[in-house]
Amino acid sequence: MTDILRPHAEQAYADELAALAGADDRERPAGWRLSPWAVVDYLMGTELADGTVITPKYVGSRRLMEIAVATLATDRALLLLGVPGTAKSWVSEHLAAAISGDSTLLVQGTAGTAEEAIRYGWNYARLLAEGPTEQAMVASPIMTGMREGRLARVEELTRIPSDVQDALITVLSEKTLPVPELGTEVQAVQGFNVIATANDRDRGVNELSSALRRRFNTVVLPLPSDAESEVGIVARRVTDLGRTLDLPQTDASEEIARVVTVFRELRGGLTEDGRTSLKVPSGGLSTAEAISVITNGLALAAHFGDGRLGPADVAGGIVGAVIKDPVADAVAWSEYLETVVRDRQGWKDFYWACREVG
Ligand SMILES: Nc1ncnc2c1ncn2[C@@H]1O[C@H](COP(=O)(O)OP(=O)(O)OP(=O)(O)O)[C@@H](O)[C@H]1O
Ligand SMILES: [Mg+2]
Repeated sequence: MTDILRPHAEQAYADELAALAGADDRERPAGWRLSPWAVVDYLMGTELADGTVITPKYVGSRRLMEIAVATLATDRALLLLGVPGTAKSWVSEHLAAAISGDSTLLVQGTAGTAEEAIRYGWNYARLLAEGPTEQAMVASPIMTGMREGRLARVEELTRIPSDVQDALITVLSEKTLPVPELGTEVQAVQGFNVIATANDRDRGVNELSSALRRRFNTVVLPLPSDAESEVGIVARRVTDLGRTLDLPQTDASEEIARVVTVFRELRGGLTEDGRTSLKVPSGGLSTAEAISVITNGLALAAHFGDGRLGPADVAGGIVGAVIKDPVADAVAWSEYLETVVRDRQGWKDFYWACREVG
């Protein structure tokens, strides 16, 4: 286990999941490992009667998670929608881990995703040798989920070409996948459902057809509502990541607060005090990016500094995150730097560090 760079959620949180299952006396939908209530407790965090601490995975509205989980107990699939970095993939993985004990039935949506990734393909050597047989067929993650009564995940649904997306319609409405070559079909077992994620910004890449959209309940994951919760999310994830990457655990709170402040101000086009309006850079400046700016800073501090995270360690990462478009974003950034950062109390070092990398 220690050598694995990124264990699946069901491995990383196996203890929590087992403790929840042991304590869970509510009704479980057919094929579910936990009751819907316990799944939401797993996502939001709680303390069990025996003192086991369940860490929060999702920081935000409990109601949203209840809606997501309840959807999966119906015959409709779940679509998690939102701007980049709002924990869509993260929530999808944890839902599958908690409900099915398996988050690995995954279709990664790209422009090149073919119908085989959603239906089934063939092992061509066997197909040629034996003709179409059960053994020559290669099941897709969706087909495996149907057979075994588990959740299947589709990442970035709107990147998948429309005609391929349509292969999901029969699956979701009839809960069956015909295999004409064998004259059979695979009928979904209880416990099967689909969680898809899609990015707001990519809308228009490939629209979801209305026929497909009708098969999903959509839950929109918002950006963190206030700076405090965003700081909390970043701090928690940075600690987790630092542990896996063997980075020394140091106090990063000051720089986390700074990165979150910069990101929130630029994202909203307004300073915290509401006094100065700002140009909004083209990049998303998501919570996920804040996490990686801090993690990069920690690596810089550990390997090239004195181990303590300072303004100079995050400056490069911030500038890189903000300036996605070398022309327009550079203007927005330098305006922000000169009108806001320069004169802000306690931000002098950060200002000069940014000037140096910029
Ligand atoms: N509200 C939140 N609660 C907990 N973690 C969060 C939250 N928002 C963001 N994160 C963290 O942000 C990181 C990125 O999330 P994730 O990759 O799931 O984003 P995404 O919405 O799938 O983005 P994309 O559209 O780019 O695929 C994760 O490590 C996750 O822990
Ligand atoms: Mg994602």
